[in-house]
Amino acid sequence: MLDALIQLARTYRRFDASYLVDETVLLRLVNLARLSPSSGNKQAIRFAPVNDPADCDAIFESLLWAYSLPDWPGPAREERPTAYIVLLRDDALGADVSHDAGIAAWSMVLGATERGLGACIFASADQDRFRKILSLPPTMSVELVLAVGKPVEEVVLEEMLPGESFEYWRDEANSHHVPKRRLEDVLWNYEQDTPNPDN
Ligand SMILES: Cc1cc2nc3c(=O)[nH]c(=O)nc-3n(C[C@H](O)[C@H](O)[C@H](O)COP(=O)(O)O)c2cc1C
Repeated sequence: MLDALIQLARTYRRFDASYLVDETVLLRLVNLARLSPSSGNKQAIRFAPVNDPADCDAIFESLLWAYSLPDWPGPAREERPTAYIVLLRDDALGADVSHDAGIAAWSMVLGATERGLGACIFASADQDRFRKILSLPPTMSVELVLAVGKPVEEVVLEEMLPGESFEYWRDEANSHHVPKRRLEDVLWNYEQDTPNPDN
C-alpha cells in the first residue's frame, strides 16, 4: 500500500485550475506535518496555508518552476495550483529546520496524494516577495513551499542507467519523464544480487 502511494506521489506541476483546494484539506495536510518527526522535537517550523486566488497568483510568480525545463515558463493560468503551504523558519526559535522541513513536506505530499491531489515541493523561493505576500517579520524566512492541486499531467518513472542524465524531460504528448537510479546503483558496498524492488 505504501509502495503504491509512494509510486504515485510524484512531483506534479500542471493542475486543474478550476479545482479549488479548500482550507480544511490544507489544515489536514499541515496536521500530518505537525505529527512528523522533528530533530530534538523542537517543532520550530510554522506553516502558512494559502488558497486565496490573489495570493496564489503572487506565490506562483515567486517560485522557480522546473529548473531542468528551461524553455518552459511554468504552468499556464488554467493549469496552475490552487493552493500552497509555505513552510517557514523563524530564526527567533533558534533551530535548524532544514531536515524537519523535508520530512514535513513529504508527509504532506503523501497526504495530498492519498486524497487524489498532487503536489510539488519548492526550495526556490523569492524571499523578498514572500516577505511581502505573507507579511513576514525580519526573523522569518521561507524554508520550502508546497504547491497543491488536482494534477492533470502524466508522470512516468524511468530506469536510469549509470552515466545517463538525471534530468527530467517532457515528450511530444507532454508526459513528464523522471529518471530514477536503479536499486543496485544507490547501494554502497553491496555485492550481492539485489531483489526486484517491484516484488
Ligand atoms: C527539497 C526539494 C526542492 C525542490 N525544489 C524544486 C523547485 O524549486 N522547483 C521545481 O520545479 N521543483 C522542485 N523540486 C521537485 C524536484 O524537481 C522533483 O522532486 C524531482 O524532479 C523528482 O521528481 P519526483 O518528485 O516525481 O520523484 C524539489 C524537490 C525537493 C525534494
